[in-house]
Amino acid sequence: MHCHQGLVSFLSCGLVLAGVWHLVYHRKSQSSYGRYMTCPPARTVPARLAWFLQEMPAFIIPLLLMLTTHKSTIMGKYLLLATFCVHYFQRTFVYSLLMKGKPFPLSVMVTAGLFCSLNGFLQGHYLLHCAQFDDEWFTGYCFKIGLLLFYIGMAINIHSDFILRNLRKPKEVIYKIPTGGLFEYVSGANYLGEIVEWFGYAVATWSFPALSFALFTLCFIGPRAYYHHRFYLEKFKDYPKFRKALVPFIF
Ligand SMILES: NC(=O)c1ccc[n+]([C@@H]2O[C@H](COP(=O)([O-])OP(=O)(O)OC[C@H]3O[C@@H](n4cnc5c(N)ncnc54)[C@H](OP(=O)(O)O)[C@@H]3O)[C@@H](O)[C@H]2O)c1
Repeated sequence: MHCHQGLVSFLSCGLVLAGVWHLVYHRKSQSSYGRYMTCPPARTVPARLAWFLQEMPAFIIPLLLMLTTHKSTIMGKYLLLATFCVHYFQRTFVYSLLMKGKPFPLSVMVTAGLFCSLNGFLQGHYLLHCAQFDDEWFTGYCFKIGLLLFYIGMAINIHSDFILRNLRKPKEVIYKIPTGGLFEYVSGANYLGEIVEWFGYAVATWSFPALSFALFTLCFIGPRAYYHHRFYLEKFKDYPKFRKALVPFIF
């Protein structure tokens, strides 16, 4: 397949605009899943199934693109796209199947699935068919530091999601104060990990599509971390005063 540069630019700008739109539209309330579901939605899907179905396209689509594209001489491109797929493999086949959250609104699941499909295509198509790297890129500092950041972020994200998952006893639906790991410093430790991941990926690929996804992630889950923090402060009188919302010691 040849590079559809116009489509890549369109989708990348769309991600940035969607992030900004989300920031503005949701400045007073957050996307209505989890603790922000005020009234029960008309149609819901069990949380495990919803996360599995909505995240899977971001794993399958780049994988299919990789399998149907003639092998490039630049293996680094495959390494970068495989890095993207590692995240979504974890999200689809590990996180989704272990999670114990509330039933998910069908509308949120469909929107998230559409988003994952478009983003999976954008990142895969750009890397395999449009990106130009010279061989030195894959031995340079940006590539190595970016990948390091990605995997540090991913470790923080997985560890923090693990802590959250284990807060509740079977059949419990209440919220508790998370402790341990980066939760000692911020209320949105899982979100901080995910944001570090995608900015690391943007550095490693040095590309507009990856940067636009990192910016979207920041706009989507950055405010969510702030709202979670406010929720904890209001709900728990003994919530640790030292803890910030998203950035340790700062915010
Ligand atoms: N890249 C992106 O743009 C993007 C967007 C959204 C999410 N994500 C990632 O997807 C993952 C999940 O996101 P999320 O918004 O669902 O995270 P979340 O609100 O922190 O919830 C994660 C899970 O933990 C449970 N939980 C959270 N806080 C709890 C507490 N204090 N006590 C007991 N249980 C608690 C939730 O239950 P309930 O469902 O009952 O609240 C849910 O099952 C995160 O790793 C996030 O980084 C990424």
